Amino acid sequence: MIAVTAKTILGDCREALQELSDNSVDLIFTSPPYADQRSQTYGGIKPDQYVEWFTPIAAELLRVLKPDGTFVLNIKEKAQNGERHTYVLELILAMRKIGWLWTEEMIWHKKNCYPGKWPNRFRDSWERLLQFNKSRHFNMYQEEVMVPMGSWAEKRLQNLSETDKIRDNSKVGSGFGKNISNWIGKEKAYPTNVLQLATECSNKSHSAAFPESLPEWFIKLFTKEGNTVLDPFMGSGTTLKVAQRMKRNSVGIDILPQYYDMVNAAIQPTECYLFEKREEYAADNKKRSGTVRKRKHSELPQQAS
Ligand SMILES: C[S@@+](CC[C@H](N)C(=O)[O-])C[C@H]1O[C@@H](n2cnc3c(N)ncnc32)[C@H](O)[C@@H]1O
Repeated sequence: MIAVTAKTILGDCREALQELSDNSVDLIFTSPPYADQRSQTYGGIKPDQYVEWFTPIAAELLRVLKPDGTFVLNIKEKAQNGERHTYVLELILAMRKIGWLWTEEMIWHKKNCYPGKWPNRFRDSWERLLQFNKSRHFNMYQEEVMVPMGSWAEKRLQNLSETDKIRDNSKVGSGFGKNISNWIGKEKAYPTNVLQLATECSNKSHSAAFPESLPEWFIKLFTKEGNTVLDPFMGSGTTLKVAQRMKRNSVGIDILPQYYDMVNAAIQPTECYLFEKREEYAADNKKRSGTVRKRKHSELPQQAS
């Protein structure tokens, strides 16, 4: 049996993060206020001041993340005076200067964005998911997010060229290579760095809540049961709720009492779960009851990591 905890803190994360110990978090997943957006509800930082505002927070996040942990930042720059602002790009450079590695950029493609027309661009249907790490060697459980191979494979794998059957090394000398024939008979493939998720979420209690499927994908990819997930801009607590459901400890911070109270009402500070190994559980159960009731797969306790 282990206890999974959810801790909430009311305050400005610049100060509140100081309550957390060094190297104590496995995954930081967050969507901070976008520059100048929703200034009626929770501030709104001027695009020109965004880097200056976020950099000290990024330094605290660097301190609390474990060396093998990951930070995923959901952000999108706005357009101003007819062009895209560059504060996100400048932020990436500033974060690299204080020690973050910018490992990857993933795209959240919002499948169901609403229609519209602008004179000089098309409608926005994607947001950035910037991945930062403290070290090149971080935990990543890629098998957890594999996707069905898809119908393209049937056609592609039936007509293999000679090059497809051997390791085809990259022409640019990167050291990477591919052997397409290795995928024959496989049902699943690794995903791309474009996440196709709907924006719709059942959580209507926050004007900028993201869908549960977003933190869920990253929690699966970068953590194991019993690990700790932090959202320093928790809003309605989507990250914490998903983390708790997935048996991860969580910490959330929000500056507004209304969100802090809302999250506290929605989540349990401690949930207890059985983490016994399946065989031990079955043996114990037999001892307790004399017979082992046949359980459905979904009823079995998950094995501890
Ligand atoms: C984009 S929303 C997050 C929404 C969240 N992902 C969800 O699913 O509900 C950003 C949140 O950051 C909070 N916030 C703004 N400035 C903050 C600060 N300095 N420290 C902590 N929270 C802050 C806002 O109150 C808001 O709830």
